Amino acid sequence: METNHFGAVLILIAAFVVFAVFGGLLLSGIISREIVSEIEVINAVGSKSALVVYQPGFSSFPRDASYAFAEGLALSGWRVGITTASSETPSELSNYSLLTLAYPVYGGTVGTAIVKYVNRINNFHGIKTVIIALQGGDKPSVTIDTLRQQVQAANGTFLKGVDTFYGRQRCNGKRPTSREEHHPLKGGKRNQ
Ligand SMILES: Cc1cc2nc3c(=O)[nH]c(=O)nc-3n(C[C@H](O)[C@H](O)[C@H](O)COP(=O)(O)O)c2cc1C
Repeated sequence: METNHFGAVLILIAAFVVFAVFGGLLLSGIISREIVSEIEVINAVGSKSALVVYQPGFSSFPRDASYAFAEGLALSGWRVGITTASSETPSELSNYSLLTLAYPVYGGTVGTAIVKYVNRINNFHGIKTVIIALQGGDKPSVTIDTLRQQVQAANGTFLKGVDTFYGRQRCNGKRPTSREEHHPLKGGKRNQ
């Protein structure tokens, strides 16, 4: 009984610390900051063009995952532009056949820089869009549905949502059994 009480107190303290850290980072503006970067082109001779827009995190994980995805597209023959989400990221997408939005999940929400970027795109003109949530938790992220609705409301075509968390990835609500199954442009679609 006493052990249960101690456990509950520990959980409360942990919840308070997480809440305080999140609140502090939010108030300090670190979580909502935008980082401006050039568009780096991978496989300039690719036949179709894709744009990967990502929001960096505190660690290199969101950047590394976004680059890994971009390189996978390039290996499949795409010309890929990759850049960070900011007020300078192109919102005119008519030159692209595919858009990928990747962001860290903080406090159960879509990364702020990505939301601001998507808000600037008045019309997706039907462009196919992949959404990648980079998170700590190992449950399918509801943030993908939130962003999917925002993309679809602006005339975007939701292609696939990918939940990616440390060391594991999930497509279509289950863990992949092979790289091919995880490939964003192969296999089934999630949450359509
Ligand atoms: C302040 C803060 C809040 C977070 N909130 C969540 C969350 O609500 N859900 C989740 O799955 N992961 C959460 N995480 C874990 C991040 O999503 C995870 O660390 C992810 O890899 C983001 O990249 P980063 O570690 O480079 O910032 C949070 C991390 C931080 C620092």
